[in-house]
Amino acid sequence: MSGPLNILYVSSEVVPFVKTGGLADVSEALPRALRAQVHDVRVALPCYGTIPEALKGERSGPCSARVNGDTRFAAWRTSKLPDSDIPVYLIEHDQYFWRDHPYGAGNMEYPDNLERFCFFCLAVLDFIPQTGWVPDVIHCHDWHTAPIPAYIKTRFVDHPFWGGIPTVFTIHNLAYQGRFASSLLPKTGLGWELFSPKYLEFYGDINLMKGGVIFASKLNTVSKTYAKEIQTDLAGNGLEGVLRTRATDLIGIQNGVDLGVWNPVTDRRIAATYSADDLAGKTACKPALQKLAQLPVREVPVYGVVSRLVWDKGIPLLVSTLEQMLKEDIQLILLGSGDASFEGALRKTAQAFPDKLSVTIGYDEDLAHQIYAGCDFYLMPSRTEPCGLSQMYSMLYGTVPIVHHTGGLADTVTDATAKNLSNDTATGFAFRTWTDRAFLNAFKRAQRTYREAETLAKLRRNGMRQDFSWSSSAKQYVQLFREAMAAP
Ligand code: ADP
Ligand code: GLC
Repeated sequence: MSGPLNILYVSSEVVPFVKTGGLADVSEALPRALRAQVHDVRVALPCYGTIPEALKGERSGPCSARVNGDTRFAAWRTSKLPDSDIPVYLIEHDQYFWRDHPYGAGNMEYPDNLERFCFFCLAVLDFIPQTGWVPDVIHCHDWHTAPIPAYIKTRFVDHPFWGGIPTVFTIHNLAYQGRFASSLLPKTGLGWELFSPKYLEFYGDINLMKGGVIFASKLNTVSKTYAKEIQTDLAGNGLEGVLRTRATDLIGIQNGVDLGVWNPVTDRRIAATYSADDLAGKTACKPALQKLAQLPVREVPVYGVVSRLVWDKGIPLLVSTLEQMLKEDIQLILLGSGDASFEGALRKTAQAFPDKLSVTIGYDEDLAHQIYAGCDFYLMPSRTEPCGLSQMYSMLYGTVPIVHHTGGLADTVTDATAKNLSNDTATGFAFRTWTDRAFLNAFKRAQRTYREAETLAKLRRNGMRQDFSWSSSAKQYVQLFREAMAAP
């Protein structure tokens, strides 16, 4: 079959409805890119209490799911991705989803997350047949929707609507697997026969991600390098063996960037717009950001960070090298939230360096755009990085990234070696060993470059000219969907 596909895209986060990280950006951009290639893509997500009323759409009908011997009822609503004809279906169940956060308060995951997301997945499988629309493929993302492939291949295997529908499972981050105590298994609505090492069992617990890996028709991760890394103990997080058994069904598809949202030429959130051909606007964004960050407006190299403050993002490296970096005449502007210990350490250093370090703990989409635009350099020392969007955003905004050479960072940032500079491919600074020393060396290289106007201009220009558009990745997804449909 070569015509347009009906794609059911099920995700726990979608911009502008709800976002905690890159999954939400991708879940807005990829459906748009698929739609642009004339596929009929429809998105489903939980109707969290935090979603603005104006986006929640109309209540369309009831749906239910049977878990733990109990039938629970919900409603499904129909909305749209703004400025598109892409339906977004929301599962409304206030007891599960009317909360301040999608997954938990602070660092504490909600204790009923297994039940919440299994209910969500089952409710989606319950209401879709009512719409009269039949998907050719279901596209699931991370552990929250990983139960769907398991349901399709077990409980729904003979279902008149769902039986035989292929699933594609995208791993955005293997560090979060949806691991729960075995006693909760009845809440999944799956049988105990699946609680074995061959299926969902993982060191005595239930592992939903593992179920997605085992039961999906096809799998992918969000960059080519990470697809290889997760089959080793470098990034497999214990699932490397299982992933190797599915190696022939697993590929890497690089995330793109939604240029409708992340584009310095049109971005209304930044102080002045600009393009690769005319950086005057960027020159104006820098002092505007310094003011906003309450730092002195001075001509110094400004470094930025917008990140979840967790170990994997390399925050330990940042915390331990910060004071050494701040010995130099620089400014560093950080926006993030996450582990309380990192938040505390960063706040404390900011108090000691009030003229050099600005730390904003929290989540602020506007400030994030202004940091990507107003800084000279962007720091992303992630221990592992499935893809990473921030380094791509910073490049497109002419802000030169300094990254650990891993996962998607390795695939998207080309180190400023003499050779890469001379053939115009260099876009940033990449360090190979995940140590304070290597990170500081990359920082020092950036510092030197700041004083070499031509080299800096070249790096900016090369970064801004990268093609991170979604169209080629969307085509690769369609190919994967077709392979899933052809799979036995
Ligand atoms: P991850 O999904 O692992 O957090 P990505 O680089 O793929 O990493 O995506 C992170 C996304 O979340 C980017 O859009 C980034 O700008 C955004 N982001 C992260 N932290 C914050 C924050 N504190 N405030 C605003 N945006 C943030
Ligand atoms: C995850 C990963 C990040 C990736 C994002 C979107 O959150 O940590 O690297 O860019 O998903 O795929």
